[in-house]
Amino acid sequence: MTGFDAFLHDGGELTCEGTPLSRIARQAGTPSYVYSRRAIRDSYHRLKDAFARVDPLICYSLKANDNLSLLRVLQEEGSGFDVVSGGELFRLQRIGADPRRIVFSGVGKTVQEMEMALEWGLFSINVESRQELETLARVSRRMGREARVAVRINPDVDAGTHPYIATGLHQHKFGVETDQIDDLLEIIENSPEIRLVGLGYHIGSQILDVQPFLDAFERLREGADRIRDRGFPLEHLDLGGGLGISYQGETGPDLQRYAGALAQTGEGYRIVMEPGRYLVGNAGVLLTRVLYRKTNRGKVFLVVDAAMTDLLRPSLYGARHQILPVRPDRSWITADVVGPVCESGDFLARGQRVPDAHPGDLLAVMSAGAYGFVLSSNYNSRRRAAEVLVDGDEWREIRVRESFEDLVRGEPLP
Ligand code: LLP
Repeated sequence: MTGFDAFLHDGGELTCEGTPLSRIARQAGTPSYVYSRRAIRDSYHRLKDAFARVDPLICYSLKANDNLSLLRVLQEEGSGFDVVSGGELFRLQRIGADPRRIVFSGVGKTVQEMEMALEWGLFSINVESRQELETLARVSRRMGREARVAVRINPDVDAGTHPYIATGLHQHKFGVETDQIDDLLEIIENSPEIRLVGLGYHIGSQILDVQPFLDAFERLREGADRIRDRGFPLEHLDLGGGLGISYQGETGPDLQRYAGALAQTGEGYRIVMEPGRYLVGNAGVLLTRVLYRKTNRGKVFLVVDAAMTDLLRPSLYGARHQILPVRPDRSWITADVVGPVCESGDFLARGQRVPDAHPGDLLAVMSAGAYGFVLSSNYNSRRRAAEVLVDGDEWREIRVRESFEDLVRGEPLP
């Protein structure tokens, strides 16, 4: 099953696991994010099965969607986690995650975040620069704690994705250039509190072609062998995230081919993966209601109650999400679907085939489970949306819609 199968037109309207989205909209209001628990579990197992031969440690990347209840769902399936901030670590502490299944990525970890990570004893801290490594060595020495470290390399491969979400080329800020690794090894040799356990990459996101992964993996394996030859007992290879999903019928990367290459080329190493979008992207929709339908010189605009503050991907990356009617009895038009925010860049769809909807109609913006709610903001003093988790016949709010009071919390007047 793909996430799409959890959202079907059934009995004349769009449902999530059989629950009509109109019922959820009536009770939870709009805009709301609606997630299918079954879809999340299924995508986790689809990934696990595809890579069964290499039995990877799957570390769900929280940045895609960090709602506590979703983290719980994945935790219950046995997933580990990938974090990039103290805040994400805090969330994992809240759900009682197992620190030995957590990797800490990111190019700018602060001393406070390093302390949190060392205190908790994570599976690995992925370092991205010489200065970061030196800082980590200092902090772990002071705390008397061993740091399990993986070095993220920049493999200089083109992932063929949107420039804002490509990360594996030498001009990007991420990772250590391969010819600087010797420098890092020297520091590690002189830092008894640092234990080098892994080598990794993350080449970008929403990657549909498997070839860049294969190229990067080859480079990673070569680098790892060289490091082992120098006497460091490297244990794992971390492939980062990046597996693309279908937004409008695209075919994702050939996982069987990737798994085959890993089984062959990666022998002797534990494999770690950090998928985000793949696990939750198609498991969620953004449910929104049409406020107005207007026409400017023949161009149709559907003004809805969700905005770029709820789903930034179309504005930021020109991303195209399918928009489906909750009641399928609408014809289709080419239109812009726009929000109430005072920016021309505030759109959910531009020049796209969308339902010819009218005020009061509900629309579902599909494939919004990853990088949806987490990128939302309070711009224009908009309250952030509610989030709902559907589980079989039941559903519940897993995040309450913000109130006006929430907007001014932390702003004392003199
Ligand atoms: N690991 C690292 C080190 C990452 O930087 C990322 C994503 C992931 C794993 C998870 O990647 P995924 O499997 O989800 O592709 N906001 C953008 C995506 C930014 C991705 C940032 N890094 C979007 O909406 O497309």
